[in-house]
Amino acid sequence: MRIDIIAGARPNFAKIAPIIRAIEARRAAGGRLRYRLVHTGQHYDARMSGDFFEQLGIPAPDVNLEVGSGTQAEQTAAIMTRYEALLLAERSDLCLVVGDVTSTMACAITAQKLCVPVAHVEAGIRSGDWTMPEEINRMVTDAITNHFFTTSEFANAHLRRSGVADDRIFFVGNTMIDTLLANLERLRPPPFWHEMGLHAGHYLVMTLHRPANVDSETQLRALLQAIGAHSRGLPVVFPVHPRTAKTLKDVSGLPAGLQLVEPQPYLEFNYLVKHAKAVITDSGGITEEATVLGIPCMTLRDTTERPETVTVGTNELLGTDPASIGPALQRLFEGQWKRGGTPQRWDGRSGERIVATLERLLGAAAG
Ligand code: UD1
Repeated sequence: MRIDIIAGARPNFAKIAPIIRAIEARRAAGGRLRYRLVHTGQHYDARMSGDFFEQLGIPAPDVNLEVGSGTQAEQTAAIMTRYEALLLAERSDLCLVVGDVTSTMACAITAQKLCVPVAHVEAGIRSGDWTMPEEINRMVTDAITNHFFTTSEFANAHLRRSGVADDRIFFVGNTMIDTLLANLERLRPPPFWHEMGLHAGHYLVMTLHRPANVDSETQLRALLQAIGAHSRGLPVVFPVHPRTAKTLKDVSGLPAGLQLVEPQPYLEFNYLVKHAKAVITDSGGITEEATVLGIPCMTLRDTTERPETVTVGTNELLGTDPASIGPALQRLFEGQWKRGGTPQRWDGRSGERIVATLERLLGAAAG
Protein backbone atom coordinates (compact mmCIF):
# COMPACT_ATOMS: atom_id res chain seq x y z
CA MET A 1 0.00 0.00 0.00
CA ARG A 2 1.54 3.29 -1.03
CA ILE A 3 0.24 6.84 -0.70
CA ASP A 4 1.46 10.01 -2.37
CA ILE A 5 2.18 12.83 0.07
CA ILE A 6 1.99 16.18 -1.70
CA ALA A 7 3.94 19.24 -0.59
CA GLY A 8 4.28 22.43 -2.57
CA ALA A 9 4.59 25.62 -0.56
CA ARG A 10 6.15 26.67 2.74
CA PRO A 11 3.15 26.12 5.04
CA ASN A 12 2.82 22.53 3.76
CA PHE A 13 6.19 21.41 5.04
CA ALA A 14 5.45 21.66 8.77
CA LYS A 15 2.18 19.79 8.13
CA ILE A 16 3.67 16.77 6.37
CA ALA A 17 6.64 16.25 8.72
CA PRO A 18 4.69 14.53 11.55
CA ILE A 19 2.76 12.35 9.09
CA ILE A 20 5.99 11.10 7.57
CA ARG A 21 7.44 10.54 11.05
CA ALA A 22 4.39 8.52 12.07
CA ILE A 23 4.54 6.38 8.91
CA GLU A 24 8.24 5.67 9.55
CA ALA A 25 7.49 4.72 13.17
CA ARG A 26 4.72 2.33 12.11
CA ARG A 27 6.95 0.87 9.43
CA ALA A 28 9.63 0.13 12.05
CA ALA A 29 6.90 -1.70 14.02
CA GLY A 30 5.87 -3.80 11.00
CA GLY A 31 3.26 -1.48 9.44
CA ARG A 32 2.79 -1.90 5.69
CA LEU A 33 1.97 1.67 4.69
CA ARG A 34 4.54 3.25 2.34
CA TYR A 35 4.70 6.73 0.83
CA ARG A 36 6.05 8.62 -2.14
CA LEU A 37 6.89 12.24 -1.32
CA VAL A 38 5.98 14.56 -4.21
CA HIS A 39 7.22 18.18 -4.08
CA THR A 40 5.46 20.25 -6.72
CA GLY A 41 8.17 22.94 -6.68
CA GLN A 42 5.63 25.76 -6.10
CA HIS A 43 8.09 27.17 -3.57
CA TYR A 44 11.66 26.60 -4.68
CA ASP A 45 14.01 29.06 -2.89
CA ALA A 46 16.15 27.45 -0.20
CA ARG A 47 14.64 29.94 2.25
CA MET A 48 11.08 29.02 1.31
CA SER A 49 11.61 25.27 0.94
CA GLY A 50 14.97 23.46 1.33
CA ASP A 51 15.75 24.90 4.78
CA PHE A 52 12.44 23.51 6.07
CA PHE A 53 13.12 20.01 4.80
CA GLU A 54 16.52 20.05 6.48
CA GLN A 55 15.41 21.50 9.82
CA LEU A 56 12.30 19.35 10.12
CA GLY A 57 14.07 16.13 9.11
CA ILE A 58 11.83 15.61 6.08
CA PRO A 59 13.47 13.20 3.62
CA ALA A 60 14.39 14.51 0.17
CA PRO A 61 11.34 14.33 -2.11
CA ASP A 62 11.08 11.21 -4.27
CA VAL A 63 9.84 13.42 -7.09
CA ASN A 64 10.09 17.17 -7.69
CA LEU A 65 7.68 18.49 -10.32
CA GLU A 66 9.62 21.80 -10.45
CA VAL A 67 6.69 23.97 -11.50
CA GLY A 68 8.13 27.26 -10.14
CA SER A 69 6.43 30.66 -10.34
CA GLY A 70 3.42 31.65 -12.39
CA THR A 71 -0.12 32.97 -12.22
CA GLN A 72 -2.71 30.92 -10.34
CA ALA A 73 -3.83 29.24 -13.57
CA GLU A 74 -0.30 28.67 -14.84
CA GLN A 75 0.79 27.03 -11.59
CA THR A 76 -2.39 24.95 -11.38
CA ALA A 77 -2.03 23.77 -14.98
CA ALA A 78 1.66 22.93 -14.63
CA ILE A 79 1.11 20.96 -11.42
CA MET A 80 -1.84 19.05 -12.89
CA THR A 81 -0.03 18.18 -16.12
CA ARG A 82 3.09 16.97 -14.37
CA TYR A 83 1.36 15.12 -11.55
CA GLU A 84 -0.94 13.41 -14.04
CA ALA A 85 2.08 12.14 -15.98
CA LEU A 86 3.58 10.82 -12.75
CA LEU A 87 0.39 8.99 -11.73
CA LEU A 88 -0.02 7.52 -15.20
CA ALA A 89 3.56 6.27 -15.12
CA GLU A 90 3.29 4.97 -11.57
CA ARG A 91 0.01 5.02 -9.73
CA SER A 92 -0.37 5.27 -5.94
CA ASP A 93 -3.25 3.94 -3.82
CA LEU A 94 -4.19 7.31 -2.35
CA CYS A 95 -3.23 10.98 -2.72
CA LEU A 96 -2.78 12.84 0.56
CA VAL A 97 -2.87 16.64 0.29
CA VAL A 98 -2.46 19.15 3.12
CA GLY A 99 -3.57 22.75 3.65
CA ASP A 100 -4.95 25.11 1.05
CA VAL A 101 -2.25 26.09 -1.40
CA THR A 102 -2.43 25.77 -5.17
CA SER A 103 -0.57 22.45 -5.07
CA THR A 104 -3.23 21.03 -2.71
CA MET A 105 -6.09 21.68 -5.11
CA ALA A 106 -4.21 20.84 -8.32
CA CYS A 107 -3.06 17.42 -7.09
CA ALA A 108 -6.44 16.56 -5.55
CA ILE A 109 -8.22 17.21 -8.88
CA THR A 110 -5.62 15.27 -10.85
CA ALA A 111 -5.74 12.24 -8.55
CA GLN A 112 -9.52 12.07 -8.30
CA LYS A 113 -9.92 12.27 -12.10
CA LEU A 114 -7.70 9.19 -12.33
CA CYS A 115 -9.86 7.53 -9.64
CA VAL A 116 -7.10 7.70 -7.03
CA PRO A 117 -8.86 8.46 -3.71
CA VAL A 118 -7.97 11.74 -1.99
CA ALA A 119 -7.37 12.44 1.70
CA HIS A 120 -7.24 16.09 2.80
CA VAL A 121 -5.43 17.16 5.97
CA GLU A 122 -6.83 20.45 7.36
CA ALA A 123 -10.11 19.87 5.56
CA GLY A 124 -13.28 21.86 6.18
CA ILE A 125 -11.87 25.22 7.21
CA ARG A 126 -13.51 28.23 5.54
CA SER A 127 -12.98 31.99 5.64
CA GLY A 128 -16.00 32.74 3.44
CA ASP A 129 -13.77 35.14 1.48
CA TRP A 130 -13.77 34.15 -2.19
CA THR A 131 -11.17 36.80 -3.05
CA MET A 132 -8.50 34.60 -1.42
CA PRO A 133 -7.12 31.92 -3.75
CA GLU A 134 -6.74 29.70 -0.68
CA GLU A 135 -10.52 29.72 -0.10
CA ILE A 136 -11.15 28.52 -3.66
CA ASN A 137 -8.50 25.84 -3.13
CA ARG A 138 -10.22 24.67 0.09
CA MET A 139 -13.68 24.51 -1.45
CA VAL A 140 -12.60 22.72 -4.62
CA THR A 141 -10.40 20.26 -2.74
CA ASP A 142 -13.10 19.39 -0.21
CA ALA A 143 -15.67 18.93 -3.01
CA ILE A 144 -13.65 15.97 -4.32
CA THR A 145 -12.05 14.59 -1.14
CA ASN A 146 -12.84 11.07 0.12
CA HIS A 147 -11.35 11.25 3.62
CA PHE A 148 -11.39 14.47 5.65
CA PHE A 149 -8.83 15.02 8.45
CA THR A 150 -9.85 18.06 10.48
CA THR A 151 -8.36 20.48 13.02
CA SER A 152 -11.50 21.82 14.72
CA GLU A 153 -15.20 21.39 15.42
CA PHE A 154 -15.76 24.45 13.19
CA ALA A 155 -14.30 22.47 10.29
CA ASN A 156 -16.40 19.40 11.16
CA ALA A 157 -19.54 21.53 11.16
CA HIS A 158 -18.76 23.07 7.74
CA LEU A 159 -18.25 19.64 6.25
CA ARG A 160 -21.46 18.24 7.77
CA ARG A 161 -23.40 21.25 6.49
CA SER A 162 -22.10 20.60 2.99
CA GLY A 163 -23.37 17.03 3.18
CA VAL A 164 -20.26 15.06 4.12
CA ALA A 165 -21.19 11.95 6.12
CA ASP A 166 -19.76 11.61 9.63
CA ASP A 167 -17.88 8.44 8.80
CA ARG A 168 -15.68 10.34 6.34
CA ILE A 169 -14.69 13.05 8.86
CA PHE A 170 -11.76 12.36 11.19
CA PHE A 171 -11.18 15.03 13.86
CA VAL A 172 -7.47 14.44 14.42
CA GLY A 173 -6.16 17.84 15.53
CA ASN A 174 -3.44 19.95 13.96
CA THR A 175 -0.28 18.49 12.40
CA MET A 176 1.36 21.91 12.27
CA ILE A 177 1.12 21.99 16.04
CA ASP A 178 2.62 18.48 16.21
CA THR A 179 5.67 19.99 14.52
CA LEU A 180 5.76 22.98 16.84
CA LEU A 181 5.53 20.87 19.99
CA ALA A 182 8.12 18.38 18.70
CA ASN A 183 10.59 21.20 18.03
CA LEU A 184 10.04 23.47 21.04
CA GLU A 185 13.37 22.53 22.61
CA ARG A 186 15.22 22.98 19.32
CA LEU A 187 14.04 26.53 18.59
CA ARG A 188 17.02 28.84 18.35
CA PRO A 189 17.66 32.55 17.92
CA PRO A 190 18.46 33.83 14.43
CA PRO A 191 22.04 35.07 13.86
CA PHE A 192 20.90 38.72 14.02
CA TRP A 193 19.39 38.33 17.55
CA HIS A 194 22.33 39.99 19.39
CA GLU A 195 23.28 42.33 16.57
CA MET A 196 19.79 43.88 16.66
CA GLY A 197 19.79 43.95 20.46
CA LEU A 198 16.65 41.82 20.72
CA HIS A 199 15.43 40.78 24.18
CA ALA A 200 12.61 38.39 25.03
CA GLY A 201 9.32 40.29 25.36
CA HIS A 202 10.79 43.50 23.95
CA TYR A 203 10.17 43.31 20.21
CA LEU A 204 7.36 42.58 17.79
CA VAL A 205 7.48 40.13 14.90
CA MET A 206 5.53 40.71 11.73
CA THR A 207 4.78 38.84 8.49
CA LEU A 208 2.72 40.00 5.52
CA HIS A 209 2.15 38.29 2.19
CA ARG A 210 -1.58 38.45 1.32
CA PRO A 211 -2.36 40.26 -1.94
CA ALA A 212 -4.80 42.60 -0.10
CA ASN A 213 -1.94 43.88 2.07
CA VAL A 214 1.16 43.65 -0.09
CA ASP A 215 0.28 43.99 -3.77
CA SER A 216 -0.32 47.75 -3.51
CA GLU A 217 2.70 49.72 -2.35
CA THR A 218 0.46 52.44 -0.90
CA GLN A 219 -1.42 49.97 1.33
CA LEU A 220 1.77 48.18 2.39
CA ARG A 221 3.55 51.42 3.31
CA ALA A 222 0.49 52.69 5.21
CA LEU A 223 0.45 49.50 7.33
CA LEU A 224 4.19 49.70 8.00
CA GLN A 225 3.94 53.39 8.95
CA ALA A 226 1.09 52.68 11.38
CA ILE A 227 3.00 49.86 13.02
CA GLY A 228 6.15 51.99 13.27
CA ALA A 229 4.20 54.91 14.73
CA HIS A 230 2.59 52.84 17.52
CA SER A 231 5.27 50.33 18.50
CA ARG A 232 6.73 52.60 21.21
CA GLY A 233 10.29 52.27 19.97
CA LEU A 234 10.34 48.45 20.12
CA PRO A 235 12.10 46.76 17.22
CA VAL A 236 9.69 45.20 14.73
CA VAL A 237 11.33 42.17 13.11
CA PHE A 238 9.90 41.72 9.62
CA PRO A 239 10.90 38.63 7.60
CA VAL A 240 9.95 39.71 4.08
CA HIS A 241 8.13 37.17 1.87
CA PRO A 242 9.28 37.21 -1.80
CA ARG A 243 5.88 38.51 -2.89
CA THR A 244 6.17 41.43 -0.45
CA ALA A 245 9.77 42.11 -1.48
CA LYS A 246 8.60 42.63 -5.08
CA THR A 247 6.31 45.48 -3.95
CA LEU A 248 8.85 46.97 -1.56
CA LYS A 249 11.73 47.46 -3.98
CA ASP A 250 12.66 50.83 -2.51
CA VAL A 251 12.97 50.59 1.28
CA SER A 252 13.69 54.28 1.94
CA GLY A 253 11.24 56.15 4.15
CA LEU A 254 10.27 53.13 6.24
CA PRO A 255 9.88 53.53 10.03
CA ALA A 256 13.16 53.41 11.97
CA GLY A 257 12.30 50.45 14.23
CA LEU A 258 11.41 48.19 11.32
CA GLN A 259 14.03 45.46 10.85
CA LEU A 260 13.69 43.91 7.42
CA VAL A 261 15.18 40.40 7.23
CA GLU A 262 15.03 37.47 4.82
CA PRO A 263 12.31 34.80 5.28
CA GLN A 264 13.46 32.82 8.31
CA PRO A 265 13.92 29.08 8.64
CA TYR A 266 11.42 27.22 10.86
CA LEU A 267 13.43 27.00 14.09
CA GLU A 268 14.53 30.63 14.01
CA PHE A 269 11.11 31.97 13.03
CA ASN A 270 9.28 30.19 15.81
CA TYR A 271 11.97 31.23 18.31
CA LEU A 272 11.16 34.82 17.30
CA VAL A 273 7.43 34.18 17.81
CA LYS A 274 7.88 32.40 21.14
CA HIS A 275 9.82 35.31 22.65
CA ALA A 276 7.96 38.22 21.04
CA LYS A 277 5.77 40.72 22.85
CA ALA A 278 3.24 40.16 20.06
CA VAL A 279 2.88 38.98 16.49
CA ILE A 280 1.35 41.00 13.66
CA THR A 281 0.50 38.87 10.63
CA ASP A 282 -1.82 38.06 7.76
CA SER A 283 -0.88 34.37 7.76
CA GLY A 284 -3.27 31.68 8.98
CA GLY A 285 -0.72 29.17 10.25
CA ILE A 286 1.12 31.73 12.38
CA THR A 287 -2.10 32.52 14.27
CA GLU A 288 -2.21 28.84 15.26
CA GLU A 289 1.41 28.81 16.42
CA ALA A 290 0.98 32.06 18.37
CA THR A 291 -2.12 30.57 20.02
CA VAL A 292 -0.25 27.48 21.22
CA LEU A 293 2.71 29.58 22.38
CA GLY A 294 0.36 32.00 24.19
CA ILE A 295 1.68 35.06 22.34
CA PRO A 296 -0.72 37.94 21.54
CA CYS A 297 -1.54 37.86 17.83
CA MET A 298 -2.98 40.63 15.64
CA THR A 299 -4.26 39.51 12.24
CA LEU A 300 -4.45 42.07 9.46
CA ARG A 301 -7.39 40.43 7.71
CA ASP A 302 -11.19 40.77 7.85
CA THR A 303 -11.85 37.04 8.07
CA THR A 304 -10.23 33.89 9.34
CA GLU A 305 -10.70 30.26 8.42
CA ARG A 306 -9.32 29.42 11.88
CA PRO A 307 -11.89 30.98 14.26
CA GLU A 308 -10.66 28.86 17.18
CA THR A 309 -7.52 31.03 17.26
CA VAL A 310 -9.87 33.93 18.11
CA THR A 311 -12.49 32.21 20.29
CA VAL A 312 -10.00 30.07 22.23
CA GLY A 313 -6.59 31.50 21.37
CA THR A 314 -4.70 34.79 21.51
CA ASN A 315 -5.65 36.01 18.04
CA GLU A 316 -7.78 39.01 17.09
CA LEU A 317 -8.83 40.17 13.61
CA LEU A 318 -7.94 43.83 13.05
CA GLY A 319 -8.89 44.06 9.37
CA THR A 320 -6.69 45.72 6.76
CA ASP A 321 -7.30 49.37 7.71
CA PRO A 322 -4.04 50.84 9.06
CA ALA A 323 -6.11 52.93 11.53
CA SER A 324 -6.98 49.81 13.54
CA ILE A 325 -3.33 49.13 14.45
CA GLY A 326 -2.79 52.01 16.91
CA PRO A 327 -5.64 51.14 19.32
CA ALA A 328 -4.72 47.45 19.25
CA LEU A 329 -1.08 48.12 20.11
CA GLN A 330 -2.21 50.48 22.87
CA ARG A 331 -4.24 47.66 24.45
CA LEU A 332 -1.24 45.39 24.18
CA PHE A 333 1.10 47.85 25.89
CA GLU A 334 -1.47 48.50 28.63
CA GLY A 335 -1.45 44.77 29.40
CA GLN A 336 -5.05 44.31 28.27
CA TRP A 337 -4.54 41.64 25.61
CA LYS A 338 -6.53 38.47 26.28
CA ARG A 339 -4.83 35.28 27.45
CA GLY A 340 -5.72 32.27 25.40
CA GLY A 341 -6.11 28.52 25.75
CA THR A 342 -5.23 25.65 23.43
CA PRO A 343 -7.84 24.27 21.02
CA GLN A 344 -9.04 20.70 21.44
CA ARG A 345 -6.72 17.92 20.16
CA TRP A 346 -3.85 20.29 19.36
CA ASP A 347 -1.75 17.98 21.46
CA GLY A 348 1.13 16.81 19.26
CA ARG A 349 -0.44 13.47 18.26
CA SER A 350 -2.36 14.36 15.10
CA GLY A 351 0.15 12.73 12.72
CA GLU A 352 -0.20 9.43 14.63
CA ARG A 353 -4.00 9.64 14.44
CA ILE A 354 -3.90 10.28 10.69
CA VAL A 355 -1.60 7.35 10.01
CA ALA A 356 -3.62 4.98 12.22
CA THR A 357 -6.75 6.01 10.29
CA LEU A 358 -5.06 5.59 6.90
CA GLU A 359 -3.85 2.12 7.88
CA ARG A 360 -7.38 1.16 8.77
CA LEU A 361 -8.88 2.67 5.61
CA LEU A 362 -6.29 1.07 3.33
CA GLY A 363 -5.99 -2.18 5.22
CA ALA A 364 -2.28 -1.57 5.73
CA ALA A 365 -1.81 -2.26 9.43
CA ALA A 366 0.96 -4.58 10.57
CA GLY A 367 0.34 -7.91 9.00
C1 UD1 B 1 1.56 30.68 -1.13
C2 UD1 B 1 0.19 30.12 -0.78
C3 UD1 B 1 -0.27 30.70 0.55
C4 UD1 B 1 0.78 30.52 1.63
C5 UD1 B 1 2.07 31.16 1.14
C6 UD1 B 1 3.18 31.05 2.18
C7 UD1 B 1 -1.27 29.65 -2.69
C8 UD1 B 1 -2.46 30.11 -3.45
N1 UD1 B 1 -0.81 30.50 -1.77
O1 UD1 B 1 1.40 32.05 -1.44
O2 UD1 B 1 -1.44 30.03 0.95
O3 UD1 B 1 0.36 31.14 2.82
O4 UD1 B 1 2.45 30.48 -0.05
O5 UD1 B 1 4.39 31.44 1.67
O6 UD1 B 1 -0.80 28.56 -2.93
N2 UD1 B 1 8.48 33.09 -4.87
C9 UD1 B 1 9.86 33.13 -4.75
N3 UD1 B 1 10.47 32.05 -4.19
C10 UD1 B 1 9.79 30.95 -3.80
C11 UD1 B 1 8.39 30.94 -3.93
C12 UD1 B 1 7.76 32.02 -4.47
O7 UD1 B 1 10.51 34.10 -5.11
O8 UD1 B 1 10.41 29.98 -3.32
C13 UD1 B 1 7.78 34.25 -5.47
C14 UD1 B 1 6.98 33.82 -6.68
O9 UD1 B 1 7.73 33.99 -7.83
C15 UD1 B 1 5.78 34.72 -6.66
C16 UD1 B 1 5.63 35.07 -5.19
O10 UD1 B 1 6.83 34.70 -4.53
O11 UD1 B 1 5.98 35.88 -7.37
C17 UD1 B 1 4.45 34.38 -4.61
O12 UD1 B 1 4.59 32.94 -4.65
P1 UD1 B 1 3.31 31.98 -4.87
O13 UD1 B 1 3.72 30.57 -4.79
O14 UD1 B 1 2.59 32.45 -6.09
O15 UD1 B 1 2.33 32.28 -3.69
P2 UD1 B 1 2.56 32.83 -2.22
O16 UD1 B 1 2.18 34.27 -2.21
O17 UD1 B 1 3.90 32.45 -1.69
